[in-house]
Amino acid sequence: MKGTHDFAPTCLRKSRKVRKNAVVTPARRSAGIVRAIEAPPVIGAAVTTATRAVERVGKVALAAPMGGRVPVLRPRITRDRLATAVQDRRVLLTGASSGIGLETALALGRAGATVVLVARREERLNDLAERIRVHGGEADTVPADLADSEDADEVVDTILERHGGIDVLINNAGHSIRRPLSRSYDREHDFERTMALNYFGAVRLILGLLPGMRDRQDGHVVNISTMGAEIGPGVRFPAYLASKAALDAFTASAAPETAHEGVAWTTVYMPLVRTPMVEPTRAYRAMPMLSAREASQLVLEAIVDRPRQVSTPAGRAASLLYEISPGAVDAIVSFGYRYGVAV
Ligand SMILES: NC(=O)c1ccc[n+]([C@@H]2O[C@H](COP(=O)([O-])OP(=O)(O)OC[C@H]3O[C@@H](n4cnc5c(N)ncnc54)[C@H](OP(=O)(O)O)[C@@H]3O)[C@@H](O)[C@H]2O)c1
Repeated sequence: MKGTHDFAPTCLRKSRKVRKNAVVTPARRSAGIVRAIEAPPVIGAAVTTATRAVERVGKVALAAPMGGRVPVLRPRITRDRLATAVQDRRVLLTGASSGIGLETALALGRAGATVVLVARREERLNDLAERIRVHGGEADTVPADLADSEDADEVVDTILERHGGIDVLINNAGHSIRRPLSRSYDREHDFERTMALNYFGAVRLILGLLPGMRDRQDGHVVNISTMGAEIGPGVRFPAYLASKAALDAFTASAAPETAHEGVAWTTVYMPLVRTPMVEPTRAYRAMPMLSAREASQLVLEAIVDRPRQVSTPAGRAASLLYEISPGAVDAIVSFGYRYGVAV
């Protein structure tokens, strides 16, 4: 029977209805419970402070400063530093129509880059290009489905024709699929779809634009990966993580081959970010996440400092743990998966 297992107080159930799509953070939830049980104000204040502190720790673990090379303080990306890095340079940004890409595009436009915007939704790209131009920036749009090999090749041809080449390529367009193996047996296409965009789409752009970078002895390829690929075990994401890990491995091979020719490669291990990509996943709603603008700072950090990797404290710590003892980490994640703790 509907509602049989819902032990939440009535007022909480009501507020859930009212704010069906609101993000229910632990602080909000505990505040609701404190109100519902009519706890004395001093207890309410203590509970709220404690949960806010826990939330803050979670956020710090995702966003706190940590360069990819050594765990040092994350450098501040000021507008001046960004302008010095990108002014009058041609930056190709895929997945510019939404989320992290959109915020990154706006920052790049403001800093004086010529931003070439790629995604499927042409209208959104045109609106974004207009916003960039209104603020004095330069933008071009090349609508394309990068999962389609012909489209991806055409993007390269169009860009070479219009701009002569690209100085910074940001492979940000991505498609995520969250589905456990038990529901994937007849869905080989999930594995093909994620590879088509997250791996082959990016590789086609790299292969098309890298020769120009090597000739000019200057270029930068930034790949937006995920903390999941950095860490290792990630239940429910075999298709997505494999496609991201494939590009990480490609980059690990390509970087030393081209380093002496002035080409830099950065892999950004992005943590959870509140964008349309994660919206359908209810389990994420109460989790600490970066905003799209905060996440774009990691991309800007990559562009300005050109480190080999950009990571976070949480990602680094978990990947180190996995390196030391993959079996133990697998056991913990497996326990979480079986008993509904792991997302
Ligand atoms: N959000 C997270 O928690 C998170 C965590 C780790 C890593 N990431 C990575 O961050 C990147 C940006 O994701 P986001 O969170 O900003 O997601 P998003 O808001 O859903 O944006 C995805 C972007 O990719 C574009 N795209 C999707 N399919 C495409 C295709 N076939 N051809 C061309 N463009 C395509 C979309 O534009 P159109 O629909 O207009 O084509 C959109 O601009 C992705 O690579 C994702 O894997 C995200």
